[in-house]
Amino acid sequence: MRILFKNIKELLQVRETSVDFVSGKEMSQLPTIKKAYLLVEDGIIKDFGAMTDFSNVETDEVVDASGKMILPTWCDSHTHLVYAGNRESEFVDKIKGLSYQDIANKGGGILNSAKKLQETTEDDLYQQTKTRLDEIIALGTGAVEIKSGYGLTEGSELKMLRVIRRLKENYSLPIKATFLGAHAVPSEYKDDKAGYLNMLAEVLMPKIAEENLAEFVDVFCEEGYFSVADTEFVMEAGKRHGLIPKIHVNQFTSIGGVESGVKFNALSVDHLEEMTDDDIENLKGTKTMPVALPGCSFFLSIPYTPARKMIDSGLPLALATDYNPGSSPSGNMNFVVSAACIKMKLTPEEAINAATLNGAYAMGLQNQVGSITKGKDANLILTKSINSYNFIPYSFGVNQIESVYIKGIPVV
Ligand code: NIG
Ligand code: FE
Repeated sequence: MRILFKNIKELLQVRETSVDFVSGKEMSQLPTIKKAYLLVEDGIIKDFGAMTDFSNVETDEVVDASGKMILPTWCDSHTHLVYAGNRESEFVDKIKGLSYQDIANKGGGILNSAKKLQETTEDDLYQQTKTRLDEIIALGTGAVEIKSGYGLTEGSELKMLRVIRRLKENYSLPIKATFLGAHAVPSEYKDDKAGYLNMLAEVLMPKIAEENLAEFVDVFCEEGYFSVADTEFVMEAGKRHGLIPKIHVNQFTSIGGVESGVKFNALSVDHLEEMTDDDIENLKGTKTMPVALPGCSFFLSIPYTPARKMIDSGLPLALATDYNPGSSPSGNMNFVVSAACIKMKLTPEEAINAATLNGAYAMGLQNQVGSITKGKDANLILTKSINSYNFIPYSFGVNQIESVYIKGIPVV
């Protein structure tokens, strides 16, 4: 099956040879081809170039993309897509003045979502999550990482991971699963955090490894949740079970988790709203991707990750949604890209690199998605007619997507 996209106004994020990620000044370069063609064969990018170099081939379908742009689909490397119900009442409490921590302290927050999830069947949870997955694909996401962490019991954490496994079986976009048992201490263990961590390491991780239910392990490293020592304990145990660390860190306080993440070769360190100069130094020259989650900063009215400073120091950056019921109830990567430009002063080129190629790296998917490169999956966004790609972040809250292709098949 061959599809030809012709007369593309501009083909974005074109990489002849794949790179793992881009950092610092390289992020300001977004390679493109104007007046381009793109040939897809059996769901894979087969060829591309300038229309002037195009020589006719037999195809099953031709899409005239005159006036429109094509870019790789967004790579959302941090979501909590599996959850039950919602937390709209906490949203109103927050408007009335309570902070994220105040809400958690009175039994809301993560524990509130855990209670709801524990009472929800696997089938129901699958259906609720599927609706959100369909919604984010329609918004241009073509690769996604999904975490557990609202189960907080053996059975419910496994239930979440099995929902993710079912999504992997039923969808053709790449999905990566992360075990986030150390998201909060459940009430049954409120005076025995060590006992809970032992249960995660000794009971759950072996089962997860045996059933191959996750690729990554995560911890919420934060005051009032899990300390740096706890985080290291979980990363260590995760590594023993073949799980690569990707951690929540520096959302509210900088307590040394970034340094630990680097020490344990975490694939990514995520949130980073609070960054000291030492945290930035620690990340330099490493393979750990810093991930900013501007939707969370927007929703909670907390600082934005100092991304400008980080990129100017030579670091790479990825952008993700953090889609979850408590701190970012939206999986809209288009909004994330806009917010990164408007609030974090990224240029459109930097934001698009952060939301595609660097996001792919933060999920270990840099050889499969994230750029227009021969051999990668044809997971593509076809925009409406727009003048320049700057219009995508500029027109925040407006959908500039005409259609989304996953493995060369239009899904929107
Ligand atoms: O990434 N910060 C920790 N975990 C999630 C939010 C969890 C929740 O409030 O339900 C986050 O922001
Ligand atoms: Fe998160």
